[in-house]
Amino acid sequence: MDRTLIILKPDAVQRGLMGGIIQRFESKGLATVGMKMTMLSRSVVEAHYEMHREKPFYGSLVNFMTSGPVVLMVLEGNHAVDVCRKLIGATAGFKAEPGTIRGDYGMSGANNLIHGSDSNEAAKVEIARFFKADELLTYQPALQHWVYDTSGGKAQ
Ligand code: RTP
Ligand code: MG
Repeated sequence: MDRTLIILKPDAVQRGLMGGIIQRFESKGLATVGMKMTMLSRSVVEAHYEMHREKPFYGSLVNFMTSGPVVLMVLEGNHAVDVCRKLIGATAGFKAEPGTIRGDYGMSGANNLIHGSDSNEAAKVEIARFFKADELLTYQPALQHWVYDTSGGKAQ
């Protein structure tokens, strides 16, 4: 199974959209293996968005991500990274397709509600950045045998 890091950004928390967004991941069949609410430090956000350091929006992005509480989640499932990026939608709310999280809930290219890792390699780095090993839980999701075909011994 693959894992991905999700951040419900400060606008999602302040707008009361946490439950609506988490519901989509649960309904899709992804398992939540880690979740916590916190304020991010500037240094951790700077590291997370290091690839955008030279972009004109970098300063306002760091300010935004440290402006209020966020929810950090680790979701698990087959192809979790790609599945979550599809559910999240295009970066800007005004471009994202209806049916996606950003397409249904957002208007902005900056305040876009949610982050999802963009590759399995990035997910590993990001999960380690935001979670200690003992904050990630191993358990058998009760509905896994219905979400996947497990008759062959592995989830398909
Ligand atoms: P994320 O990394 O947050 O999951 O978003 P993404 O891959 O869809 O988009 P990315 O290009 O990595 O941009 C990172 C975040 O920077 C903010 N942004 N603001 N004002 C702007 O033009 C602008 N462009 C990007 C957004 O919060 C975006 O999610
Ligand atoms: Mg990105």
